[in-house]
Amino acid sequence: MSKGEGKYSTIHYQKYLQIEELLSAQQLRSGALGDPAHEEMLFIIVHQVYELWFKQVIHELESVIEFFEDNEIIESSLSVAIGRLNRVQKILQLLVKQIGIMETMTPLDFLDFRSYLFPASGFQSFQFRAIECLLGLPEEQRLTYFGQKYSSVFTKDKQKTLDDIYKKGTLLDKVNDWLERTPFLNLDGFDFLEEYRGALTAMLNKETEAIMSSEYLTDKQKKMRSEMVGSSDTYFRSILDEDTHNNLLKENKKRLSYKATVAALFINLYREEPILQLPFQFITCLIDIDNEVTNWRHRHAQMVLRMIGNKIGTGGSSGHSYLAKTASLHQIYTDFHGISSLLIPRSELPLLPDNIRDQLNFYFTAKKA
Ligand code: HEM
Repeated sequence: MSKGEGKYSTIHYQKYLQIEELLSAQQLRSGALGDPAHEEMLFIIVHQVYELWFKQVIHELESVIEFFEDNEIIESSLSVAIGRLNRVQKILQLLVKQIGIMETMTPLDFLDFRSYLFPASGFQSFQFRAIECLLGLPEEQRLTYFGQKYSSVFTKDKQKTLDDIYKKGTLLDKVNDWLERTPFLNLDGFDFLEEYRGALTAMLNKETEAIMSSEYLTDKQKKMRSEMVGSSDTYFRSILDEDTHNNLLKENKKRLSYKATVAALFINLYREEPILQLPFQFITCLIDIDNEVTNWRHRHAQMVLRMIGNKIGTGGSSGHSYLAKTASLHQIYTDFHGISSLLIPRSELPLLPDNIRDQLNFYFTAKKA
């Protein structure tokens, strides 16, 4: 025990940070097998630094999920949650940049020790999988690996830990429930969807009128463009018609419930209302994190192509082609990206009645009925 008591006890830097333990964890396998490869040190340290940052990301994500326990989140927690998610985004940006350090090792240098890694692989990074689960990557939408569940590379205990994340509810689940609790969408004579439908129809009519009266377009171009305005109607259909949305949910083409999606649209459209600013920032953080994970996937896939070409990975996947697919298929908050196609210009937005503005203040703290 160090000198002093409790809060005022003292400790040495080396001991506090367990530097000895940390610095004795770089065991070069090439050295142990009698064929030392200089670059293996970099390979190990880069991976270890990743795992340390993954630990911090998990720490933040778990704490944010906890804010939503009991179906309640108060405004002060929301701003702390935004601060933590912002931190996660910054860490992920750093992790994307770190790939550049890995790339200072040449493909030939890597071959000096690659065979000693077999069959170890990033596939076996438990913390990376935990991050995917905490964010809410749906299990059934993961690419399969030899027809096996993604978690089959872990011990039973670890598999259970990952399953439990889904059972307890991921960040996506919690956000969905939170969005569903925004009752002002249909309140005191204000029906947001009806208002939106009216504004949307007016906007599409104005677009068609502008096309038809343009002196810069030929008749053929006018016909084509006005048909395009008509067909843009299709992406509005899922927000105006609950059944269409629910069918997309069944086909795994949507992740948020209908009610949550309408609420997210409302928040995006009326983000300038003071009470909606924090919810808007929160949703923006989720989009930023999703983008950063996707950036990492692209960058990692690109590095893999450079390092091993089209060879299969040490974990047994098709290597680069598998990784490139995950970049598009393993995005999580795609429904929030989809909201952009539903936005209408500020000038067309229906004004919120005063009674709704007055009441908005209370609802984000309201418990689920
Ligand atoms: C020379 C450097 C690297 C090479 C050649 C490489 C190669 C690969 C390959 C081929 C895969 C696909 C799975 C397999 O068949 O093994 C993979 C997956 C993975 N790697 Fe790397 N990797 C490198 C560096 C890193 C670094 C620095 C990290 C940081 C933690 C990392 C994390 C991962 C993760 C998390 C996966 C699983 C991705 C997923 O399934 O979506 N890799 N890697």
